[in-house]
Amino acid sequence: MADWKIEPASGIHAELTVPGDKSISHRAIMLAALSNGRGEVTGFLPSEDCLSTMKAFQQLGIEITRPDDTTVVIEGRRGHFTPPTADIDCGNSGTTMRLLCGLLAAQPFRSRLIGDASLSKRPMKRVIDPLTQMGAKITAEGTGGCAPLVIEGGPLKAIHYTVPVASAQVKSAVLLAGLFAKGSTKVTEPEQSRDHTERMLAWHLLRPRKTGLSVSIPGGQTLESRDFPVPGDISSAAFWLVAAAARPGSHLMVKNVGLNPARTGVLAVLIRMGAHVSEIVESSDCEPVGTVEVRGARLHATTIGGSEIPNVIDELPVLAVAAALAKGRTVIKDARELRVKETDRIAAVARNLRAFGVQVDELDDGMEIEGGAKLHGAEVESFGDHRIAMAFAILALFAEGPSLIKNTDCVNTSYPGFYETLRKLAKSTRSAIPVISSLRAD
Ligand code: S3P
Repeated sequence: MADWKIEPASGIHAELTVPGDKSISHRAIMLAALSNGRGEVTGFLPSEDCLSTMKAFQQLGIEITRPDDTTVVIEGRRGHFTPPTADIDCGNSGTTMRLLCGLLAAQPFRSRLIGDASLSKRPMKRVIDPLTQMGAKITAEGTGGCAPLVIEGGPLKAIHYTVPVASAQVKSAVLLAGLFAKGSTKVTEPEQSRDHTERMLAWHLLRPRKTGLSVSIPGGQTLESRDFPVPGDISSAAFWLVAAAARPGSHLMVKNVGLNPARTGVLAVLIRMGAHVSEIVESSDCEPVGTVEVRGARLHATTIGGSEIPNVIDELPVLAVAAALAKGRTVIKDARELRVKETDRIAAVARNLRAFGVQVDELDDGMEIEGGAKLHGAEVESFGDHRIAMAFAILALFAEGPSLIKNTDCVNTSYPGFYETLRKLAKSTRSAIPVISSLRAD
């Protein structure tokens, strides 16, 4: 298990790209596998989570080749899969397991989904419930509706499902099952969650219908195979955006990054906190893609809650770090979902912030962070959670002494190359601005 030793840094001056979007990379493989021919996915995120999805589809009889690390060629089979001869291992990836449940619920065979210790503790009832209403037979072998999951696939009927808590994974699982169902399947969510599935279904020439917070899809259609360029992941960029935003004098440009409005809440929060942030959408074929520029400033506290939460759900750990660096008391609320991520992110963030000398009050559904204190270097755990490891690596850049982030291998689930980029950025100066390309070692 690798630990990271991190020295304080004085600022960030760089132009960079980040690896491919995780949510989109998963879906690009899934939708290509459902389509009627060959599809090439470029800019694919070669992280453990997305490779779990790739291997799962190979187990289901889909021919997939990888001419290079970030290019994946998928031979679509119109949604006809082969029964897997072994358990499908989803590793640490909730997206793999939940979206696969939707697809496998309709297949005329039995499959069993397993995951690592963290995934085996995450709630699966949220997908089992609607899929059962559609006619699926899913048994959770773990306690409290958790994995392993045994899916006895079969014919499905369309439903109108109202999701109790905004979740793109639940919405997507139901929509994917709906592709195989008789009739039109509709999902209504309480707040807008990321809409990659809907956009990507439309890219493959289906017509999901969106009205307000509802989306519906008629069953029985075939997806048209089309190549898909995956943009950089704004959730990965968020770590560098915060590092630059919180230090006056810093200047960062992130290019070719996904700017889907259901994912850019992090920019709105940083602007509210006083950072100078601009975004330019340069293309908008399926997903908006462009450049984000940040100039550092003295940040001040804000409140993050309500319908904004699904938009920033993955960025909350690093936004909590921004709050620790900002003047005043930041409140994060309505974010109970953080308790059921790769780890309990409310408890993990609170504990690690305190280790650096930050005063935090933990709430049931968030936290209150007293920003602006002097930070001392600290030794903190990742809790096996990639975003906790990376968020606290950023905070360590602002501490007064060296820090140690322990057990950081988990970062490979979403951002291979993060530490190498961090080391280059920490050395960057205004007079020698590096251009850092994701996934390149030098
Ligand atoms: C994801 C949706 C979100 C997010 C996760 C990826 C997706 O989870 O936190 O990292 O790809 O659909 P929920 O659907 O549980 O909110």
